[in-house]
Amino acid sequence: DHGTPARQSTETVSLTIDGYPVAVPRGTSLMRAAVEAGIQVPKLCATDSLEPFGSCRLCLVEIEGRRGYPASCTTPAEPGMVVRTQTPKLQQLRQGVMELYISDHPLDCLTCAANGDCELQDMAGVTGLRAVRYGVAGEEVGGVCGAHHTKAKKDESNPYFTYDPGKCIVCNRCVRACEETQGTFALTISGRGFDSRVSAGQDQPFMDSECVSCGACVQACPTATLQEKTVIQIGQAEHSVITTCAYCGVGCGFKAE
Ligand code: FES
Repeated sequence: DHGTPARQSTETVSLTIDGYPVAVPRGTSLMRAAVEAGIQVPKLCATDSLEPFGSCRLCLVEIEGRRGYPASCTTPAEPGMVVRTQTPKLQQLRQGVMELYISDHPLDCLTCAANGDCELQDMAGVTGLRAVRYGVAGEEVGGVCGAHHTKAKKDESNPYFTYDPGKCIVCNRCVRACEETQGTFALTISGRGFDSRVSAGQDQPFMDSECVSCGACVQACPTATLQEKTVIQIGQAEHSVITTCAYCGVGCGFKAE
């Protein structure tokens, strides 16, 4: 995973990342340039197929001669830059960010469907997070989804996937996947503060929104917020079919031999 999409340019820029010289097409992000140098910068909201958004703040770097800690996913490489991705200060900042995420996230990893395939879990390990100073998400309260702040309920209306707002980290990946790969604009971010979450249409159930069940959002989700329903949940299939997309709302209907 290169973190951000490739840029096509005949012009090349040369820079140094963590002491390694690297040359990349103009317009390439520092995050992608770092990967070219063999360095993976921690990240949650960036992927190599979506335009960078810069929301998670895990990918902060230091650039010699510049103040602050810019996000490497949204900062383009420039000629002569001297970039550092792994200083003690950056490690401290990333741990602070992860603490905030974990303090607002259910700690049900052992029973979570994404256990072992969760980028939030991965980043807790990558950043070396050991403890959370702010307390952690509390108990589930009377059927309200999410063990913490959002009051939005779990949505199981879609036959192919579930949506659990309590696990949403508001990385915007599903929203961008819906827009950029499907061109559907079915999803948006709603709410403020602890109540921020993804919602379909006007905070509707997915099946009442313009969602076409393409599954791009499920593929893009780094946690179990958007989670494929298992065969156990939906029961045995009545027919066997071969399709290129498990979520296809159109249905090509190829029959298995
Ligand atoms: Fe850069 Fe999230 S990966 S801000």
